[in-house]
Amino acid sequence: MTHAAQETFGAETVREAAEIVARYPHSRSALLPMLHLVQSVQGFVSQEGMRFCAEQLELSEAEVAAVATFYTMYKRSPCGQHLVSVCTNTLCAAMGGDAIYAKLREKLGVGHEETVGIPGEPGSLTLEHAECLAACDLAPVLQVDYEYFDKQTPESAAELVDRLRAGEAVQPSRGPGLRGFRAAERQLAGFFDGEAELESVVDGSAQAVETLRGAQIAAEHGWAAPEVQDVPIPEVEEGAK
Ligand code: FES
Repeated sequence: MTHAAQETFGAETVREAAEIVARYPHSRSALLPMLHLVQSVQGFVSQEGMRFCAEQLELSEAEVAAVATFYTMYKRSPCGQHLVSVCTNTLCAAMGGDAIYAKLREKLGVGHEETVGIPGEPGSLTLEHAECLAACDLAPVLQVDYEYFDKQTPESAAELVDRLRAGEAVQPSRGPGLRGFRAAERQLAGFFDGEAELESVVDGSAQAVETLRGAQIAAEHGWAAPEVQDVPIPEVEEGAK
């Protein structure tokens, strides 16, 4: 590893990187959690972070860059203490998501993937508009550090960012409490501070009543999905392969 990467990431991160790699039969499969690990240390994926991943996974820097620049969850500039993601996809937009995003832009004085405050310092926020956050039944939604705030309005969202800027403890609509962008990235890399934190993420507390309603109605009526039929696989001629 280069001296600079060694200094930035340190022995503990190198050890955790090896732990991630050991989860997979092929080291290259570990790239996505590795990039989250880098973000948990630096608050974004730097050029040095991509080099670190390439070295740990025996990939080229170009291969790592191709992935890091494709997925929007990998940030190319330092994030604030919290990442505020406003859904502006079709349903949320129609239900008020566009108005929420416009309100936060105006209030914070920043645009997409821009940060108010000193990145990483308490009270700093990075704003982004996001594609569907998979909670359309609770639209319009936003997330802070990937935790949900359901059925928002421009006013409730403005109050939320005021409280985050002031460093207040804020409880999402469901799921575990907020611990900051870097801590969320650490979880996405697969690291949890003890059993209690792991259970708080996977015990179902993030489910919403509205989301489960369809499954409950189906259970009450005895409805089930139809059996999956075997679909014949068409023959492929030798020359067409
Ligand atoms: S459109 Fe916003 S959560 Fe799906």
